[in-house]
Amino acid sequence: MRPSWEDERVVEHEIGPVRPLEAGVHPEIDAAQVKLRQRPLPRLADPEAPLLEVKDLAVHFKLESGSVKAVDGVSFRLDHGEALGIAGESGCGKTTTALSLVRLLPPNARVRSGSIELFGIDLVPKSERALARYRWREISIVFQGAMNALNPVHRVRDQIAEPVRLRLGESEKASLKRAGDLLELVGIPRKRGSAYPHELSGGMRQRAMIAMALACDPAIVIGDEPTTALDVMVQAQILELLERLRSELGLSLILITHDLSVIAETCDRAMIMYAGRIAEEGPVGRLFTAPRHPYTQKLLSSFPNIRTDRRTLDVIPGTPPDLRTPPPGCRFAPRCPAAMPVCSEVVPPEVRLSDGVRVACHLYPPETAGTDATAVDITVPTIGGGVSSSTISSAGATT
Ligand SMILES: Nc1ncnc2c1ncn2[C@@H]1O[C@H](COP(=O)(O)OP(=O)(O)O)[C@@H](O)[C@H]1O
Ligand code: SF4
Ligand SMILES: [Mg+2]
Repeated sequence: MRPSWEDERVVEHEIGPVRPLEAGVHPEIDAAQVKLRQRPLPRLADPEAPLLEVKDLAVHFKLESGSVKAVDGVSFRLDHGEALGIAGESGCGKTTTALSLVRLLPPNARVRSGSIELFGIDLVPKSERALARYRWREISIVFQGAMNALNPVHRVRDQIAEPVRLRLGESEKASLKRAGDLLELVGIPRKRGSAYPHELSGGMRQRAMIAMALACDPAIVIGDEPTTALDVMVQAQILELLERLRSELGLSLILITHDLSVIAETCDRAMIMYAGRIAEEGPVGRLFTAPRHPYTQKLLSSFPNIRTDRRTLDVIPGTPPDLRTPPPGCRFAPRCPAAMPVCSEVVPPEVRLSDGVRVACHLYPPETAGTDATAVDITVPTIGGGVSSSTISSAGATT
């Protein structure tokens, strides 16, 4: 006889090794801060595998006018207790990447290729039913507008209790108790749980969304612009809450935002996306102080920085490409002040430098892998639009 849903839940989550969470790849994450996971790992988990590893992910949207290559060859990794920030201009594929991880994509989207391995288990080939074991229980997501994500006709407490009951099989009483505990954890008095979403402030609603995301004690929480709709004071409180939860619960975070300062304050690593691909990825300390990719440099200089002198903000000329017909080669080439002839013909390979930064740009050819190639100053153009040979050689590149 085919096992029931309940049986499958038990099989997947109550058997298997329990292992302590390790610190992330970066030494600044204190292993002692990262608490023990309370539940066993999924049965099929490989205890040696990274928490999350996305390899060569491609996601396309089908439209009558063509196929939108929204995510095209994206690879990244997230370790236990780590916070990864994803930034880039609107439409560069941040949300599509996040939604792919929990397969909440719109009906016209397809994962065309690649893998999404959670504890070494590839989620891409999983059926919707099988994936339900991982969504919310291992990876959950907090969306931008809590008012749209919460159900207006149900009390907040009941909405938080529901996944605990349905996905973890807890009793009504236990799930309501957990909902109350979670509300307190995120700074909402337990008794406010009887409110309907419209009776809470914007910040409180976002806190309630975070409580809901934590309902099943997931390993990874994704925040897709979780503070964008809030005023700055409330934004700061929500970010502080996420940081506290991360260290207290041993959570791993993926924080999507167009606000680079949020990533600088909150994350260990940053990933800059442009037109469906990764331009640059690496430790926040390096990426923000020595950005290598021309797009990262432009993005940073178009952003206000309270620690530097007052200066005129840069503007990136042009607009991102139409992802139904992206340019061949480097997708940033039509807007890049350092573009060379090769850029509009050949897709730049990704190169990992010695400080852990990964960059995809012809200014950093494969020979620079493993070196500490210094950032090429893209403000020094040469005749023909490329950068000067002196600056290229400072990156260790050959022309
Ligand atoms: N439902 C959809 N149908 C067609 N194209 C879409 C859909 N949703 C997003 N896109 C396109 O996919 C690309 C990536 O979008 P998205 O992931 O939302 O970017 P971001 O979150 O970085 O703003 C954009 O070009 C966008 O127009
Ligand atoms: S130099 Fe070339 S490869 Fe690098 S960002 Fe500019 S256009 Fe792209
Ligand atoms: Mg988005």
